[in-house]
Amino acid sequence: MSIPFNIPHLTGKEAQYMDQAACNGKLSGNGEFTKRCQLFFERKYGFKKCLLTTSCTDALEMAAILCDIQPGDEVIVPSYTFVSSALAFLRAGAKIVFADSMKCNPNIDAEQIENLITPKTKVIVPVHYAGVACDMDSIMEIAVKHHLLVVEDAAQAIDSYYKGKPLGTIGHLSAFSFHDTKNIISGEGGMLGINDVQFIRRAEIVWEKGTNRAEFFRGEVNKYGWCDIGSSFLPSELVAAFLWAQLEDMEDIQIKRKRLWNKYYEMMSPIAKQGHFSLPDVPEYATNNAHMFYLVCHSLQERTALIKRLKEVDIVAVFHYLSLHCSEFYKDKHDGRPLPECDRFADCLVRFPMYYDLNEKDVELICKTVKAIVC
Ligand SMILES: Cc1ncc(COP(=O)(O)O)c(C=O)c1O
Repeated sequence: MSIPFNIPHLTGKEAQYMDQAACNGKLSGNGEFTKRCQLFFERKYGFKKCLLTTSCTDALEMAAILCDIQPGDEVIVPSYTFVSSALAFLRAGAKIVFADSMKCNPNIDAEQIENLITPKTKVIVPVHYAGVACDMDSIMEIAVKHHLLVVEDAAQAIDSYYKGKPLGTIGHLSAFSFHDTKNIISGEGGMLGINDVQFIRRAEIVWEKGTNRAEFFRGEVNKYGWCDIGSSFLPSELVAAFLWAQLEDMEDIQIKRKRLWNKYYEMMSPIAKQGHFSLPDVPEYATNNAHMFYLVCHSLQERTALIKRLKEVDIVAVFHYLSLHCSEFYKDKHDGRPLPECDRFADCLVRFPMYYDLNEKDVELICKTVKAIVC
């Protein structure tokens, strides 16, 4: 029996809602399903405003526009992240200043941020890796002190919390992903969360190709026109309808994923205690949304061997990000500072199958196989 790394989960209502959207007579964006999804997030988590986007990358690009990034502005981003966390700001003209991870988990090391701030710094982008919160009190304190904006990359962080506050609601802006590897999916998809009301009007304009079409549809103006820069950041109603089916089942999805994650943790703990690898770290201030189960091996060689041996028995485990500061595109632009923790996670972190339709017996088999390999 083979165990893939991911199987996108369908709740069963997706096709019905997409059919409904098709019959509603409005297939383009910002229709009934879009509004329903946005309201769901605003009410459940307390965002001032949410806007669905076609990806988290798009939500980050909107954030870069809203932060009014100008050529030469500096943006602090962890190097251990997906390309989009940096690319969205770089495309707007920013210089990316990469920060290292903490020792205990891959999140940005808040203690090092202040050393990276210059008069050109404009934004900090904390990335909540595996849905586990960054040290947001420290980050927000630094941002207030230096008059910086904070854009949370919450791509993996749906339904997760920092000291009781939903992730994505703490910074000025935030970006979520509904890519089919995430807990809640729409194939490709994302959302911009807005927590500072000063951004709302412009965000709607940027979202709708630089026009005030959203105001027109609400009947607030009698014609709409070109007001600003922007793009076509909004998804069609078909995508929003798919997403709505997922949101209706979010509680069930989260309960199941957490059960699987806890099973992994329980079974991997005794092996970790023998010193074979380390377990994922969830600091006291953070919750775990069971987005991902990972382990950290001692070396690249050990991780490569583990992945290879698992593959031989048809269990797909995978590594994750490569350090962005060493990437082909950015290595010559990086200022040369070593970022050893980031490199360690790039070399040693391994992710295990984690999806709704995985069952506890699969997790048992995976853990027993890992034990047989490493012990
Ligand atoms: C931390 C992080 N940010 C951004 C993205 C980009 O998300 P999307 O594929 O929805 O654009 C990802 C993708 O997995 C991610 O892991």
